[in-house]
Amino acid sequence: GIKKKEVHVLCLGLDNSGKTTIINKLKPSNAQAQDIVPTIGFSIEKFKTSSLSFTVFDMSGQGRYRNLWEHYYKEGQAIIFVIDSCDKLRMVVAKEELDTLLNHPDIKHRRMPILFFANKMDLRDALSSVKVSQQLCLESIKDKPWHICASDALKGEGLQEGVDWLQGRQI
Ligand code: GTP
Ligand code: MG
Repeated sequence: GIKKKEVHVLCLGLDNSGKTTIINKLKPSNAQAQDIVPTIGFSIEKFKTSSLSFTVFDMSGQGRYRNLWEHYYKEGQAIIFVIDSCDKLRMVVAKEELDTLLNHPDIKHRRMPILFFANKMDLRDALSSVKVSQQLCLESIKDKPWHICASDALKGEGLQEGVDWLQGRQI
């Protein structure tokens, strides 16, 4: 068949936000894992969609592993940043990690697209994607295309909208 364009994507965000669950749901159903466990270090996941061949660096969000993220920034062509919309106490920590990411020399001057998932929207006390966007000050990101989607990774809701947006970014 026709060879699909390959893209390298970094999947970042705090531990327990749902990164691995999201990446798993994007895979074809016969390739999906049944049980998701906290990521140790990182995991490289490959899958194809209708138009692209994805290689995703699914990084652990645990504090002790976050220093690994920057080693993969150069390789990444796009970022998926996942937020637990219910984790109000750690929204400031998510913002700090995002700000550190945006100011990193390997990221700062590149126009790489960032897709945000305001995840766990199925839970009752979840913040809306607008609220998450405000708390993370996403409007201040002027030099990179970005987009935020509310998602429920357990049901897979909102994920396709996000991937469609990414696919339209000419990465
Ligand atoms: P680390 O690998 O530790 O960085 O975490 P992670 O961001 O990969 O999170 P993971 O995908 O392991 O999910 C953490 C927990 O959140 C799991 O128990 C998931 O089932 C749950 N979870 C993920 N997405 C959702 C969601 O949209 N809604 C609900 N209710 N739970 C979710
Ligand atoms: Mg994980």
